[in-house]
Amino acid sequence: MQISVTSRPPAARADDLIVLLDPSAARELFDPARAAALPGWDDLARHRKTNEVKCPYQASGGAPLLYLPGAIAPYWDDDEKIRILGGKTWDLALDRHARRIVLMLDGRHGPDAAPLAAEGLALRAYRFTKYKKGAEPKREPSVTLVVSDTNRAAVDRAVKRRLTVIESVNAARDLVNEPGSALTPADLEQAARAVARRRGLKITVLNEPELRKQGYNGLLTVGRGGTVPPRMIILRYQPAGRGARKDVHLGLLGKGVTFDTGGISIKPSARMWEMKGDMGGAAAALFAMDAIAQLKPAVAVTAILVTAQNYVDRNSVLPGDIFVAKNGKTVHVDNTDAEGRLILSDGLCRMGEERVTHLVDAATLTGAVVRALGPALTGVLGNDQFADEVIEIAATQGEPCWRLPLVEEYRQWLDIEVADLNNISNPACSLYAGATTAALFLREFVPQGVHWAHLDIAGTSLVTGQYKYFRPGATGVMVRTMAALAERLAARPADG
Ligand code: BES
Ligand code: MN
Ligand code: ZN
Repeated sequence: MQISVTSRPPAARADDLIVLLDPSAARELFDPARAAALPGWDDLARHRKTNEVKCPYQASGGAPLLYLPGAIAPYWDDDEKIRILGGKTWDLALDRHARRIVLMLDGRHGPDAAPLAAEGLALRAYRFTKYKKGAEPKREPSVTLVVSDTNRAAVDRAVKRRLTVIESVNAARDLVNEPGSALTPADLEQAARAVARRRGLKITVLNEPELRKQGYNGLLTVGRGGTVPPRMIILRYQPAGRGARKDVHLGLLGKGVTFDTGGISIKPSARMWEMKGDMGGAAAALFAMDAIAQLKPAVAVTAILVTAQNYVDRNSVLPGDIFVAKNGKTVHVDNTDAEGRLILSDGLCRMGEERVTHLVDAATLTGAVVRALGPALTGVLGNDQFADEVIEIAATQGEPCWRLPLVEEYRQWLDIEVADLNNISNPACSLYAGATTAALFLREFVPQGVHWAHLDIAGTSLVTGQYKYFRPGATGVMVRTMAALAERLAARPADG
């Protein structure tokens, strides 16, 4: 998306879409002195009852379209409304074949609204058309943000910073939208290597022999039936300079099942295709690192992507198989479709060896969280207040979450006669609290003393229809939150 920030309203053109988000900006425009400089704008007052009017100002060849949502409803009271408005503006501009969107933000809310509107525009402008040969390429409008002269430079910086993050979000969406056969664990590794190279991050990849040597049997067990071996991908960001804090090390763990057939406990065919997105957590962790490497917060961040294919094959893990997890606990594979928690157990253990202090994992882990919360909310579980801090940050990023409890009483549902842990709830309780029992399983592998928040993004990673500023498909959820969390941890007072 081509975007610029200026403090001088450009001369209107017939193929402009001019947006007045903030009535206080409009008031300035209605000021006779300003209006004199922009002939025709003074007539606007008469059209304030609708949010779409023909501008009386005649550019050569016709009149630009004016969009006045802010004159009708206040938008600045809710960040998410401004993002959604940015998305609507993009749609309107495409419908009307506008060549340029001019966002008038020189009112009192402009400095705050500009990055949010830009974010909504950039999220809406994303499309996944790689495989759509017949897609007529619509000419994309450019975007001009008009702000007051006094804050132009600051707004320009804020907008650029925001668009950096949104580019990372959109890159994550590209990975999640790829079909399962086009994005294998090997392809995910290549994508991670490309990010590491471009952004100067250290990368370590544990391949199958290495996983075997180090006892990462969760990945090996799940990946046994795959066509491409599983792997563990580790990316490290180390802040430069002396300002970096020594007491905090953030870990970002992502579930990277590049396709989840369910394995021998095979899934029903209806909507199984959605399981191409079962690596949404890994995409989030990877592209949060992509953003973090550019934002450069003063805190160390380590991302781990655990990636495997969960396939039906003669080598696939069987229901009833038992393996020894990295921390020595034995795990009974009751259901091969509960594979995410098995590969995450390896990532959680590794985070202990990486010496993280705060750990966030993102995973498309359970259908239960989709039933409980639907597509609007990510389910969050955790072992202390840190989970609430993550939820609070996510809210500022347009990625709302809801905390679910780790009910101690349900831990016994994972008990089984023949091993230390069963990978699903016992049959009598299998319909209850699936997101909680999955998190209770994960907790068995969280390193001692680490602040841990688990984000179950099964409902929020992929939308099947239009939703807010998203087109059908991947949302890139948790890239924004993870990047903001790194910035917050870098800035917050010690020992919080
Ligand atoms: N990847 C799925 C969870 C999922 C469901 C993600 C819907 C996105 C949308 C996960 O691996 C899975 O299959 N979970 C099972 C666990 C069950 C067997 C305990 C589930 O939720 O049905
Ligand atoms: Mn599964
Ligand atoms: Zn899965």
